Amino acid sequence: MLTHEGSYDDQGGSENGYQNSARGFDRPNQNVFDLSMDYSDDEVLLDWEQYSGMRKYRACGCEWNWLIRCLHVPTTPPEWWYRYSRRQRHILLGLIASAVALAITLIVLVVVVATHGGLSHFALGGSDAANDVLPVPEDAMCNWTQWRLPEAVRPEQYWLRLTPQLQPPYRVDGTVKIDFHLANAQRCIVLSAAGLDITSIRLSTQQQMPASVVYNEDLGQATIKFGQEVNPLMTAHTLQLGFNYNLSDGLSGFYQSVYTGADEQDHLLATTQFEANAARKAFPCFDEPAFKAEFEVTLVVPENLTALSNMPQQSASTEGLGEGLVARTFMHTPPMSSYLLAFIVGNLTSVSGTVPAYTAAGQSAADAGPSRPVSVWGTPGKEESLREALDIAKKVLPAYEGLLKVPFALPKLDLVAIPDFAAGAMENWGLITYRETALLLDPEQAGISDKRYVASVVAHEMAHQWFGNLVTMGYWGELWLNEGFATYFEDLGATAARPDYLYKEYFFDEKETAAFEADALTTSNHPLATPGLDSDDAIEAMFDGISYDKGGSILRMLHAYLNDTIEYTSGDTFLAGLTQYLQMNEFGSVTSEKLWQALQASTTLNIPDMMHVWTYQQGAPLLSVTLRGSDVLVSQ
Ligand code: BES
Ligand code: ZN
Repeated sequence: MLTHEGSYDDQGGSENGYQNSARGFDRPNQNVFDLSMDYSDDEVLLDWEQYSGMRKYRACGCEWNWLIRCLHVPTTPPEWWYRYSRRQRHILLGLIASAVALAITLIVLVVVVATHGGLSHFALGGSDAANDVLPVPEDAMCNWTQWRLPEAVRPEQYWLRLTPQLQPPYRVDGTVKIDFHLANAQRCIVLSAAGLDITSIRLSTQQQMPASVVYNEDLGQATIKFGQEVNPLMTAHTLQLGFNYNLSDGLSGFYQSVYTGADEQDHLLATTQFEANAARKAFPCFDEPAFKAEFEVTLVVPENLTALSNMPQQSASTEGLGEGLVARTFMHTPPMSSYLLAFIVGNLTSVSGTVPAYTAAGQSAADAGPSRPVSVWGTPGKEESLREALDIAKKVLPAYEGLLKVPFALPKLDLVAIPDFAAGAMENWGLITYRETALLLDPEQAGISDKRYVASVVAHEMAHQWFGNLVTMGYWGELWLNEGFATYFEDLGATAARPDYLYKEYFFDEKETAAFEADALTTSNHPLATPGLDSDDAIEAMFDGISYDKGGSILRMLHAYLNDTIEYTSGDTFLAGLTQYLQMNEFGSVTSEKLWQALQASTTLNIPDMMHVWTYQQGAPLLSVTLRGSDVLVSQ
């Protein structure tokens, strides 16, 4: 029943046979609706019934009467319709509407899947004749021009086998098997490779598939093009590549280091330096820090030489190898970034010790794992100069474990002095490499500043075993998450080994002033977190006073702020937050944001709010301090 004298224009007339209906509906004659209509009464018609009585059908600005007529669509509800009560008609209408909506959705779905190639995959899967394959359009990966690798391919495990020649022509022959996961169907796979020749390509799941390779030397990439699409599967694919190159005579990738022995002769060792973008020079890989994977390394080397890698040796075999050669296979690593992989082959000598297993609070020593061997290596004749570094390393390792409450993740730690080395040292996981002056201390010659330097470099690289290696910055723009932490923690580690060197007291003088200096530069300055790096040079430029000294300084500031002191107590909120950060992100990659969130968990202060400005904005706040009588006025 209408609650007012609502009306609409009489367009229906007798043509639709509906006016003056037997249902007692008095048709209004104005095209005006009153929203206060009461539909609860069975005598009132449903909207559809009202509209069906209208003569003109308008939609999309057109009149569709001709179509209705042409299709003989009944324009009025049939007689039987009104045998049902209004409630039943309402339910019926609802059911019809739902069925129509379902049908439309299904049709749309089928059309979308078919046009986006989904169905062609089903066709591929069911067909055993390669000729049935539908032509696949070249996809974006085949013409990749970006510095960053595509995200659709993710490596999970590498098996790397290298045979380096330590005499002319210094050729390295290699094979790498990579288990990878594919997010969507691809005809091409882009990976990192620089200055090496890929000589064979095999894909385990589609072995017959022809493939070719195109190099982009500017980007340090190789694109493997397959004869047909590689389908995304639930299980990983295995890509097997054969490759070769020359052992580099530079200081990155897999390179030659030459030294003069006690016999006055030149000797050669082969070693690696991969950070930041040089793993791709030693083997085809996915050379970005966030593409973490497990690595199993095999080195085929002369039997009389030492071969080291990140993990302890697992097996050795001479089967099928030339005279005097042995294949040394190392245990597979935990998930890690390619820039932290390392291997060394040469005539090396060492001093060794052990560090007892880490025992967590409440755990008995008997339940802890085995003790960990720690060794310091150098070329023959340097034994005596290795001892001081060994003593430091043996003290620093348990000190970090105690502060961070997270055990060192690997079963051994080697520190190696390399005669030719570009940086001061490099934190390869479990196989740290050092310039000789940063590791060797001749007990007869070394002065206090040499000793001070060695302890801080040893402690710096060992701090990376947690900050950088276990938990890694997602990309180089947040390098400070590696280097800022190592810069701050090296003082805590070195203090544990050599408390009389007063590392913490010198922080301001040595590092914070360097931070302010770097922050005052106009052309090279950048925020701690810098987006959009897209070249070797841009990445190298991140290894600066901002990432190291400003990074370290804001961590020290935060540590002091959270604890009200920089003396470390058992209830240290900052360290408790870092334990969380490491545990939550172990074997993974992080952003500054994840750090702030983890620290937030151990305090009521709003850490992200406070730290955002330090993270994303360059410079430091300027405080003006004025003396007004006996008052000190600080303003910003
Ligand atoms: N990760 C760096 C080494 C590095 C630096 C690799 C630049 C690639 C490019 C290492 O942890 C480091 O910082 N080494 C310092 C020594 C440290 C005590 C400041 C170095 O090499 O000077
Ligand atoms: Zn470092």
